[in-house]
Amino acid sequence: MTFTNSLIRLSGLLSLAASAQAAAYAVQDTFDQTNFFEGFDFFSGQDPTNGFVKYSSAIHANNASLAGYANNGIYLGVDYESVNPAGGRASVRVNSKASYTKGLFIADIAHQPAPACGQWPAFWTFGPNWPSSGEIDIIEGVNMDTNTTITLHTSKGCSFSKDSFSSGDCNAPGSGTTGCGAPTGNLQTFGTGFNEIGGGIYALEWTSQAIKIFFFPRTGPIPTDIASDTPDPTTWGAPAAQFSGSGCNIDEHFMNHQIVFDTTFCGDWAGKVFNDDPVCKAKANTKSTGMAACQAYVANNPADFKDSYWLINSVKVYSEGGALNKTTPKRFTS
Ligand SMILES: *[C@@H]1O[C@H](CO)[C@@H](O)[C@H](O)[C@H]1NC(C)=O
Ligand SMILES: *[C@@H]1O[C@H](CO)[C@@H](O)[C@H](O)[C@H]1NC(C)=O
Ligand SMILES: *[C@@H]1O[C@H](CO)[C@@H](O)[C@H](O)[C@H]1NC(C)=O
Repeated sequence: MTFTNSLIRLSGLLSLAASAQAAAYAVQDTFDQTNFFEGFDFFSGQDPTNGFVKYSSAIHANNASLAGYANNGIYLGVDYESVNPAGGRASVRVNSKASYTKGLFIADIAHQPAPACGQWPAFWTFGPNWPSSGEIDIIEGVNMDTNTTITLHTSKGCSFSKDSFSSGDCNAPGSGTTGCGAPTGNLQTFGTGFNEIGGGIYALEWTSQAIKIFFFPRTGPIPTDIASDTPDPTTWGAPAAQFSGSGCNIDEHFMNHQIVFDTTFCGDWAGKVFNDDPVCKAKANTKSTGMAACQAYVANNPADFKDSYWLINSVKVYSEGGALNKTTPKRFTS
């Protein structure tokens, strides 16, 4: 009798737990043309990736038309007029004031910096004490790259098993600079291909079980539950990238992330591989190589960066607030 009762009560608890897992996402924060610059700070310090860039303060960026509201969205651009600007080309980097741990992040983006030699744009998230709180690179590429490489960076002890999307040790080769990632191979995700179709929507779903990145081109199909603010990623089909499995405790390696948009030049990635890009190598001043060639190119060809701007319609952050949180049931029998 007691045994039977226990079973019934236990199965009741299990179904509660199951429904809690499919918690609905509710909007927590919306950043758009009405409030974006209230929710994001301008980072105007030295570029941590050693770029040939001068990140502008809010006042300077707005006054110099490097950042502001445009086309019903948020414009984040670069200086495309100055020849040989001292200390680097002026640009902007914005970080969200709020930090987030887990949730669903949906960015509707109309335009990305069009590929140009020496350029390195990114839309990404990261936490304190890099890389121990993790980094998630959603849109990123350098020079004339054609598609985004979605990459995670962590401290030691986080790896994802090989599957069709990703593989490897996110701390590889130990310095935290390489990370684990995969090119999407999708030309609509980045630069020219993205801009030609009016952009699209990126979604990052970050739970204790998985980090998934979805991409929906403007040309569709775009899940209708995004426009209605009732997003349910379980109905969206395969993500563009997925990081999951027992090799990484996501809760220990990813926390307190700020959301970032930036455009830098040369530096630790675009500069180092500048000469590996056949288009950029051919355009470069033959008297210099590598980093110097990259900086000389960026300094002397401002017009190449006229289309180096982000145009963001909105960024929304959703949390699982619409349903019971999943908890571990306590024992109720002795
Ligand atoms: C604003 O722009 C004008 C004209 O370009 C310039 O003279 C002025 O110094 C700028 N002010 C700031 C605060 O950047
Ligand atoms: C995607 O980008 C990677 C890295 O730049 C490149 O190796 C690959 O050829 C690109 N894929 C396509 C389809 O262009
Ligand atoms: C779920 O947990 C979060 C974080 O602890 C909390 O803010 C939220 O109110 C909880 N939701 C419910 C329905 O209890």
